[in-house]
Amino acid sequence: MTAPKVIAVDGPAASGKGTLARRLARHFGFGFLDTGLLYRAVGLRVLRAGQSPGNEAAAIAAAGAVTAAELADPGLRSEAVSQAASAVAKIAGVRQALLELQRRFAAAPADAQGRPLPGAVIDGRDIGTVICPDAPVKLFVNASLETRAKRRYKELLEQGEAIIYARVLEDMERRDQQDRSRSVAPMAKAPDAFEIDTTRLDADGAFAAALSFIGSRLD
Ligand code: CDP
Repeated sequence: MTAPKVIAVDGPAASGKGTLARRLARHFGFGFLDTGLLYRAVGLRVLRAGQSPGNEAAAIAAAGAVTAAELADPGLRSEAVSQAASAVAKIAGVRQALLELQRRFAAAPADAQGRPLPGAVIDGRDIGTVICPDAPVKLFVNASLETRAKRRYKELLEQGEAIIYARVLEDMERRDQQDRSRSVAPMAKAPDAFEIDTTRLDADGAFAAALSFIGSRLD
């Protein structure tokens, strides 16, 4: 049996990586894992337990307890949980606890019924650099801070969050800075990743750019 093919999709918040990753998974018939949801689930668990996301012992215990069923919780998308996710994601023990789960998905992707799939699209911050450094396809999706903040502001309004744009921009800048500068597995473009800037590109344009890069790399 040939090893599953992995497409690693990394990039900062609201860059369009999730939309692109989902579409690639559908196109190739691959499994999809949004690893941001894992860190969000850890953040949410810690907040619900009344603990601080900076509390290492609480965050590591939460990371060990996260289940796949929790990843569908709509509460994961709130702005408070975004910040908590970024805070727990700095903790080495949290990343370690989530590493195996991600590698297992990459090695044996399956659909919701458990049927094996020929590949995986995995979206996050460190997929091409740490989780799947041998992935045959690595994409790094980016966009200007203002573009990304506008997108996230619109999403949060649609979810019914009472929020002001300036705050979204400020929070996003802080979170990106934290994700980029942490000492364990910082968000980074792998040297062999193809960068797609979505500042002036819609979802179709980003998909077309990704497909042209992928070309015969998965054969
Ligand atoms: O949806 P958005 O792009 O805003 O964020 P996300 O992908 O859901 O990730 C939430 C947070 O989890 C990020 O700000 C990172 O701190 C962390 N994360 C990470 O450290 N490594 C990953 N592979 C994925 C997310």
